[in-house]
Amino acid sequence: MGIGWNFRYAALGFCLLTSMAMGQDNLLDDAKSLFSPIPKDPPVLNSNPATAEKVELGKMLFFEPRLSESHNISCNTCHQIGFGGADGRPTSIGHNWQHGGRNAPTVLNSVFNIAQFWDGRAADLMEQAGGPIANPIEMGSTPARAVDQLKGIPGYVDAFRKAFPEEIDPLSYNNIGKAIAVFEATLTTPNAPFDRYLEGDEKALTVEEKKGLALFMGKGCASCHSGVNVGGGMYAPFGVVEKPGGDFLPPADEGRKRVTGELQDQYVFKVPSLRNVELTAPYFHSGRAWDLDEVVAAMGTAQLGTRLAPEDVSSIVAFLRTLTGEQPQVTYPALPPSVATTPRPAP
Ligand code: HEC
Ligand code: HEC
Repeated sequence: MGIGWNFRYAALGFCLLTSMAMGQDNLLDDAKSLFSPIPKDPPVLNSNPATAEKVELGKMLFFEPRLSESHNISCNTCHQIGFGGADGRPTSIGHNWQHGGRNAPTVLNSVFNIAQFWDGRAADLMEQAGGPIANPIEMGSTPARAVDQLKGIPGYVDAFRKAFPEEIDPLSYNNIGKAIAVFEATLTTPNAPFDRYLEGDEKALTVEEKKGLALFMGKGCASCHSGVNVGGGMYAPFGVVEKPGGDFLPPADEGRKRVTGELQDQYVFKVPSLRNVELTAPYFHSGRAWDLDEVVAAMGTAQLGTRLAPEDVSSIVAFLRTLTGEQPQVTYPALPPSVATTPRPAP
C-alpha cells in the first residue's frame, strides 16, 4: 500500500504540475477531472435493495436508544443528523460516560467512502453498523441482546417482517445492519455550490472560492482529497513530510497498522471526506483541532511540506465552505412502544 499511494500521489501531482506549466487556465475542466458532484438520488447498495419499508425501519433503528444497554444512546447521539452528522466533540461520550479514542466522523455521504472508520476496518455501512451497538464504550450491548431487545417490541417484529418479507427469521443482527445501511445511504447532501460549479454553473463559486479551488488542486491537496467526497477514497499517512505534533497525532493511536499489522500502515488513516467540513469541527481523528484555518495550514506542512501563506489558507477555507450541501430533511420517526415484557434498560 505504501508504494501504491506514493505512486498515485506522485503521478497526480505531476499531471497537475504539467497542466499548470503549460499555462492552461481551465479551472472547471481540471476540477471535473478530479471531482464529481454528489448524485441527486441516493446510491443503490450491493445486494441490499432499498424499499420504503426498509428505509423507514433503518431510520427508526438509527434513532432507537433501546439498541443501547442504557436505553439512552442511539446512533443519532453521536451522529446528529441536524448537526452535520457528527457530535461536535473531540471524542464521543458513550456507555457509562466513557470516552472513545477518536473523533466521530460524519455519517453524511459516508456511503461514498471506500470503507468505514478512520482506519477503514469496516468494509461498508452494513458491517459498520454492527460495531457501535456491541462496542462496550459506545452503546454497550451485544448482538444477542440487541436482537432480544427488538424481538420484545411488537412493533419491530412487524416492521422487520415487512422490510424483509422473504425471510423466515427477519429480525436478525445482520438485518439490523442492512436496514440502518439503506437509511444511511439516503443521508447525502447534493447541490453544494461546488456541485453546481462542477455541473457547469461557473457563477456558483466566487472569485475567492475559485482561487481556493485552484490552490487546492495546484498545491496538491487534491492528490488525496478527490472524487465525489473530496476525500474518503484512499488511505494516507498523517505526516507524510513532517509529523504533526502529539497534540494532533497522539502517538498511541497507530491508525491502520492496527488493522493490517503492517509497519508501513503506522499512522495511516483514511483520507477524510471534506464534504460539509465547515459543519463538523473539531477535526482530525484525534478531534483536537477546532479552527479550519489551522487545520489547512497543518495539512500544508504535514502532508505537502509547504508553509501556506495566510491569504492562501483563507482562500482554501473559502473553497472548503462551498462543499456544504443541502442537509437531509429527516422526519423524526415514531418509535414503537415497549410492552410489559420488553427487556428493561440496564440500571
Ligand atoms: C458513542 C458514540 C457513537 C455512537 C453511539 C455511534 N457512533 Fe458511529 N462512530 C463513532 C466514532 C467515535 C466513530 C469513529 C471510530 C473509529 O474510526 O475508530 C464512528 C464511526 C462511524 C461511521 C464511519 C464513518 C466514516 O466515514 O468512516 C459510521 C458510518 C457510523 N459511525 C455510524 C453509526 C451508526 C449506524 C450507529 C448506530 C448503530 C453509530 N455510528 C453509533 C461514535 C459513535
Ligand atoms: C498525502 C495525503 C493528503 C494530502 C496531500 C492532504 N491531506 Fe488533508 N488529510 C489527509 C489525511 C490522512 C487526513 C486525516 C488526518 C487524521 O486525522 O489522522 C486529512 C485531514 C484533513 C482535514 C480534516 C478533516 C476532518 O474532518 O477532520 C482537512 C480539512 C484537510 N485534510 C484538508 C487538506 C488540505 C486543504 C490540503 C492541502 C493543503 C490537504 N488536506 C492535503 C490526507 C491528505
